[in-house]
Amino acid sequence: MIAPPPVLHSADPNAPIKIAARDVSVFYGAKQALFDVSMDIADKTVTALIGPSGCGKSTFLRTMNRMNDTIAGARVAGRIEIDGQDVNARSVDPVLLRARVGMVFQKPNPFPKTIYENVAYGPRIHGLADGKAELDGIVEASLKRAGLWDEVADRLHSAGTGLSGGQQQRLVIARAIAVEPEVILMDEPCSALDPIATAKIEELIDELRERYCIVIVTHSMAQAARVSQRTAFFHLGRLIEMGDTEDIFTNPRERRTLDYITGRFG
Ligand SMILES: Nc1ncnc2c1ncn2[C@@H]1O[C@H](COP(=O)(O)OP(=O)(O)OP(=O)(O)O)[C@@H](O)[C@H]1O
Ligand SMILES: [Mg+2]
Repeated sequence: MIAPPPVLHSADPNAPIKIAARDVSVFYGAKQALFDVSMDIADKTVTALIGPSGCGKSTFLRTMNRMNDTIAGARVAGRIEIDGQDVNARSVDPVLLRARVGMVFQKPNPFPKTIYENVAYGPRIHGLADGKAELDGIVEASLKRAGLWDEVADRLHSAGTGLSGGQQQRLVIARAIAVEPEVILMDEPCSALDPIATAKIEELIDELRERYCIVIVTHSMAQAARVSQRTAFFHLGRLIEMGDTEDIFTNPRERRTLDYITGRFG
């Protein structure tokens, strides 16, 4: 069955479109994992991707910063534009793209370096800081924006891997923020965290929304309802419907969406 077109109204009707996906399909070898997904993703908005395991949420997320390029045998068809620019164009350097479109994974993955170096690394390789004082400033501002500064200010030069899971996840978010991204992709960023650390990350996501376009994959309906303004429901590699989170959770148009959000499958 062909998915209906996505509902094109936004939680903030004035939020400009940041990412436009058109007929995006992804293949792993001969197996098609994603079928003709078209979606507009608004800026300064949290968009949640939900759906049962294996439905293609991570695959779709990875099309936005070309992380599928790093998977042998993966092929992407269709078009993804960020601010009108085709991310798969030959002229786009995937390394620079991934700085603009940062990614946070399920399991926090700090580099085996100090807290300071985790955050300073990106700005240094991208030449964003002119000297040590400026770099220090970027590190401090990024840690503050990630809500971690107060907990680590006195141990910037100890190992990032020595932090708690929730702190490591905020460190990774600080690392993503440090290179001045426009979009932050999060793939189940809280699923390895306890409820208190999860609440902190959710609070942080809500603050970050002021500055960034955020796309989050989550298995928690409650989390999607708490943090997102827009929700997209995927099933078997297709986008089934998308709309304002409130509408998706209270009045979905599709039976499959209703069955999923009410826990009848998935
Ligand atoms: N590297 C890969 N090689 C081959 N097949 C893959 C690869 N990654 C994903 N797939 C397949 O593509 C489909 C979509 O997978 P994907 O990881 O995007 O789903 P998901 O919705 O993120 O699932 P989950 O909720 O379990 O994380 C699945 O059938 C999966 O087995
Ligand atoms: Mg996944």
